[in-house]
Amino acid sequence: MGMQADEDDFTGKLGQLSVVRLASSKIKRLALVGLGRANNVMDAVYASDSWRILGFTAARIAKQLKMCSMGLAAMDTNLMDESSKLVAVESIASGAILGTYEDTRFKSEAKPSKLTQVAVMSLGTGSDRDEALRRAVCITAGVIVAKQLVAAPANVLTPGALADAAVSIAMAHSEVLTCTILEKVDCEALGMGAFLGVANGSDQPPKFIHLKYCPPDGVVYKRVAIVGKGICFDSGGYNIKTGANCAVELMKFDMGGAGAALGAASAIGALKPKGVEVHFISAACENMISGKGMRPGDIVTAMNGITIEVNNTDAEGRLTLADSLVYACRLRVDAIVDLATLTGACVVALGHEVGGFFTPSATMAQQLETAAQIAGEKIWRMPLVEQYKQTLESPIADLVNTSGRDGGSIKAALFLKEFVDPGMEWAHLDIAGPVWNRKTGTATGYPVRTLVKWIDQQQIVAGVADS
Ligand code: BES
Ligand code: MN
Ligand code: ZN
Repeated sequence: MGMQADEDDFTGKLGQLSVVRLASSKIKRLALVGLGRANNVMDAVYASDSWRILGFTAARIAKQLKMCSMGLAAMDTNLMDESSKLVAVESIASGAILGTYEDTRFKSEAKPSKLTQVAVMSLGTGSDRDEALRRAVCITAGVIVAKQLVAAPANVLTPGALADAAVSIAMAHSEVLTCTILEKVDCEALGMGAFLGVANGSDQPPKFIHLKYCPPDGVVYKRVAIVGKGICFDSGGYNIKTGANCAVELMKFDMGGAGAALGAASAIGALKPKGVEVHFISAACENMISGKGMRPGDIVTAMNGITIEVNNTDAEGRLTLADSLVYACRLRVDAIVDLATLTGACVVALGHEVGGFFTPSATMAQQLETAAQIAGEKIWRMPLVEQYKQTLESPIADLVNTSGRDGGSIKAALFLKEFVDPGMEWAHLDIAGPVWNRKTGTATGYPVRTLVKWIDQQQIVAGVADS
């Protein structure tokens, strides 16, 4: 076709890219983007990741080449069924939005993407497709909310700023979202001694964030809570982070759970699922050092009366989550998912691509695995080994907050379980690995898509038509 191609060694490997210039044509450039193995792509359940990488790769090169519009044609789509096509459209759109996105908030000069139009061809038309695109826009906007909150440095994203962000999200969807911020005095009145123990060392006032979603028609069959760890900076406290690999300079990301919860809230506020009420909760504070800071060995009392001997101030997340979980249980919801950058041990176990989740409930496990699979985010179930609970016994209080490095993420999960009502459907997701991409130095927005899918499933569970 009279073009200079260098695609000889183009094999179609996922994310592989080859661009050629076309002479004298309306189309100025032609790119081949690899989509990986056909059988991975044709199966709707597993395909979203591949399609998203396709959309991302194409949009990223379009942005770099300062293109204004782009057409995207997938090959051999006649082999795909309708639902697979919808997954493809949603995922390509999501990838394309993320491909043009760049966080320039802290750059003195911003070069915004010129790409304003992406035409997706050969993947169907009609109202189902429009709905898939609307979903992609809403969910990806939520992913970007999470990315921005997590990447913002701690001198900008204080607990107050995080609370302000929650209020703004509520105001953007005021028909369905309401936000309550509990101040320090309110938390004192509720007896949140574990949360306030952590917050004490910081000059920044703590904020307890409670964002509530109600469906537009007010009809509710299922009530759930998403609880996110909201440590805006984790210095370790008096057990200060010093070791060679402690990554203290990354500890602005320690509100990754809260960031994902608020990202999901923003998506849910826009998508407006029926039949489900959702509470987004985060105890936001910093873990710092000062004359008022918690000392190793201090004993604090959580909102449910359980006393905790803080033998390590760097295990602060489980303390703030303890009060958050008691608060969530008191809302009498049907299920709780908590998200936290909780342990380095989970990163050692699963690396940076996979989040570890813990739940005593087979139902929750199945729901989360399905949601994550459809969302294209990797999670792996970890065991709640009851025998390890005895290592959390304190000679002087009800519990200690840490007990050795072995099985660290399991022990953290067992600690949290003490603050969840027996019989409550609950899962804990340790996102310490996948919340941050160390290669690109950016936040990932993990696991916003999984959360939105899981919330979506609740309306199906509740028997509301799957829209
Ligand atoms: N925020 C950290 C967890 C973390 C550490 C995430 C490193 C990612 C990388 C958490 O508050 C923490 O410090 N956990 C301790 C627990 C320990 C003291 C039992 C940890 O994992 O080292
Ligand atoms: Mn810590
Ligand atoms: Zn932490």
